Amino acid sequence: MIITVTDPCKPLPLEFNPSRPLEVEVGCGKGRFLTGRAAANPETDFLGIERMLGRVHSFDDKCRRMKISNAHVLRLEALYTFWYLLPAHSVRTVYVFFPDPWPKKKHHSHRLFGPVFLRALWKRLAPGGRIEFATDHEEYFRFVTEECFPPFECGDSSGSREMPAFRRVSPMERGPEAWTEFETRFRGQGLPIYSAAWQAAEGADYKLEPMTVAPEDEPREGITRRIGKRYLREMEEAAL
Ligand SMILES: C[S@@+](CC[C@H](N)C(=O)[O-])C[C@H]1O[C@@H](n2cnc3c(N)ncnc32)[C@H](O)[C@@H]1O
Repeated sequence: MIITVTDPCKPLPLEFNPSRPLEVEVGCGKGRFLTGRAAANPETDFLGIERMLGRVHSFDDKCRRMKISNAHVLRLEALYTFWYLLPAHSVRTVYVFFPDPWPKKKHHSHRLFGPVFLRALWKRLAPGGRIEFATDHEEYFRFVTEECFPPFECGDSSGSREMPAFRRVSPMERGPEAWTEFETRFRGQGLPIYSAAWQAAEGADYKLEPMTVAPEDEPREGITRRIGKRYLREMEEAAL
């Protein structure tokens, strides 16, 4: 089912049942991975986030063909969705498979992974929840694993000491039935695939303050870069 958002400032027009696990794929493309996982795990709910309309429709067509009712797809920007719309500490696993690597240095600020996205991820992940990441791009893999993680410290659940918000764990095993569309193509070309995973620590909660997002920056292409840059600038100014 495609989730239709008429007002991106309101909560998602979809109620997730808190007694059922929720897994989210960022940039889910045409949904090969997530629909396969939904068919194999009917007791779990799945949400794909994808900003390209054609891919959202392909995802939805797959759900209809496969008679899947526990997978939904949302056409929205991922950072925005994590920052504002998902219920706090509700997600068991976030999959980020083959995100655009933006290889040129002048485009690095478009990259999804960074301190702002990671703060939003921790806030939405259930304690112990996982991030699964895969890419064919070696430099991007090093950037994410070495520069982004561990991203920040959070208070432990008693609030008395600081500790890393994520710890690295072994990535999940995935056979061909769980490859994404891009992955199937890359593996077919014999390209190496790099995978990593992290687990969210159970820590003292924090609030995600609203960002000053101008109306022209509302969910669409480039918002990751614009609000990410602005948020970091605001945090730096607040620390002065
Ligand atoms: C390289 S493709 C990979 C698609 C899929 N994960 C796969 O492996 O086949 C990256 C996908 O992420 C989507 N995407 C990129 N940035 C996004 C964002 N900030 N929010 C939502 N979708 C995004 C793109 O539209 C594209 O479909």
